[in-house]
Amino acid sequence: MCGIVGILGSKPVAMDLVDALRRLEYRGYDSAGIATVENGHLERRRAEGKLRNLEHRLLEQPLSGLAGIGHTRWATHGRPTERNAHPHMTPRVSVVHNGIIENYRDLKAELSAAGHTFESDTDTEAVVHLITHELDKGQQPIAAVQSALSRLQGAFALGIIFAGHDDLMIAARQGSPLAIGHGTGEMYMGSDAIALAPFTDTITYLDEGDWAVLRRTGVDVFDRTGQSVTRPQVKSVASALLVDKGNHRHFMAKEIHEQPDVISHTLANYLDMGAGTVNFPDLGIDLAKVERVTISACGTAFYAGLVGKYWIERYARVPVEIDIASEFRYREAPLQPGGLALFISQSGETADTLATLRYCKAGGQHIASIVNVRTSTIARESDAVLPTLAGPEIGVASTKAFTCQLAALACLSIAIGRARGTIDAAKERELVTALTEIPRLISTMLRDESQFEALAHTLSKARDVLYLGRGINYPLALEGALKLKEISYIHAEGYAAGELKHGPIALIDENVPVIVMAPEDDLFDKSISNLQEVAARGGQIILISNADPEKAGCKLAAHIKVPDAHDFANPLLYAVPAQLIAYHTAVIMGTDVDQPRNLAKSVTVE
Ligand code: G6P
Repeated sequence: MCGIVGILGSKPVAMDLVDALRRLEYRGYDSAGIATVENGHLERRRAEGKLRNLEHRLLEQPLSGLAGIGHTRWATHGRPTERNAHPHMTPRVSVVHNGIIENYRDLKAELSAAGHTFESDTDTEAVVHLITHELDKGQQPIAAVQSALSRLQGAFALGIIFAGHDDLMIAARQGSPLAIGHGTGEMYMGSDAIALAPFTDTITYLDEGDWAVLRRTGVDVFDRTGQSVTRPQVKSVASALLVDKGNHRHFMAKEIHEQPDVISHTLANYLDMGAGTVNFPDLGIDLAKVERVTISACGTAFYAGLVGKYWIERYARVPVEIDIASEFRYREAPLQPGGLALFISQSGETADTLATLRYCKAGGQHIASIVNVRTSTIARESDAVLPTLAGPEIGVASTKAFTCQLAALACLSIAIGRARGTIDAAKERELVTALTEIPRLISTMLRDESQFEALAHTLSKARDVLYLGRGINYPLALEGALKLKEISYIHAEGYAAGELKHGPIALIDENVPVIVMAPEDDLFDKSISNLQEVAARGGQIILISNADPEKAGCKLAAHIKVPDAHDFANPLLYAVPAQLIAYHTAVIMGTDVDQPRNLAKSVTVE
């Protein structure tokens, strides 16, 4: 989703702004632009499409200036054209914005009536004219922004520069994250610390409702009431090396290969592997008394939550309610006070997940979150945080964050089970040992990807692909299909294997590959029956399983061999073939693997 940066520098900033924007590319975008102020004069360059187009534009028409703002835009209001690209500006002020101004229609009508001319279809332009309107009334920039902010409804992270002010930038946040970077004689702001990593590792995160006045000598932060506040400076771990793909062609490949390490780190955070026990942090709630768990998340994180439901219900015997955050929020589900509400999010900034968290908090729930970004809003608004130690995930399609979410959920299910007495010490040791094996087994699978490459050639010719799974493999089928459609753009759907005959079977013919995720567990025979229903209709069956392919009892188009593991830990293992299938198919299709079209890494709008 949109990324913003700003630099008050000591040398021309245009190329540094582009460099910082490159670090935000992973969030997903479809146009980009920068604006600078030089000798009191504002100017901008913008371009549709990728950053290289903006760079070409800057080569043809360079932009000087020691202060500037930049933006990668993921279109919400108005098509991804140059006209709608940020920064938006009048001769007096220039603005970059991440989020949605919900009352922009009213503001636009009011400002148009007052004589302002709008050039774009965006909601953001209302902010520009609102500030200009205040400046026109004789307000100074800081007062003008403060008045404007009080009129804005919705979500925003804003970066603002002014004509006539080469040493002034204002940043504001409400609902969208914003980091201020401290340099020596320079100051920065950006959507996240990764964008600022080449310039500084000293960061101040703005709180909800904060706005900040930056000058080269430092920053003054104010809360939404205008009170001066102090927010801590922290050292960011987002090193300058983070955008390095290593020996890999894509971030996604690198992140898939990091899984043995990052899953180990995550497990080590929750388990004492030597003792074979869970070593779970205090969630501030008595797990023995938890009567219901409510899980909410979006996208891939939702599918992790679905796996978590199977684990928590089966091993801890606690009913779990789970819903997509954007649905949960509005269906007015009754909440029993004192319940445990669990939120799962890689970024910790997903707007719907955050809104649902607040809804549950207001409903008296104890809030725990599984997040990858510990400084995120969701982490900060939770009563307890269960971090995933996946490290920064740059590829838009989530891989290592997903398996680390699974690792944290698996440990949580054992912890609740132990607290409630549904798991004894021997079972705990058995389950912990099962999880401990996973990083090694994933490494084995990653040693040779030729079977995935071969399969990708078949899939790249398909128009539709079905993924089937039963029981705990059902969410993995959903995730496999999501991964494939996200990055290869091949239409794919995941179904519960038992549901096949209630509809999707009508789609099956010899042109439809059907990928069946079926570890040899207690449901294996039932999955095989469903597989044979597909075979009987000529479908091309791809079996992902540790079982001997002979057990399928029919001709397979391919068999992806997965190592043997304990049933409990299988979801972590079976996630990996689904990732590799999607990855290699996308590579053959020639799509933009790390930044698939229309998608955003961190969805900060509803
Ligand atoms: C976007 C991303 C997905 C991610 C989802 C939830 O759609 O493209 O990869 O699963 O958001 O994001 P979160 O940061 O909350 O896990």
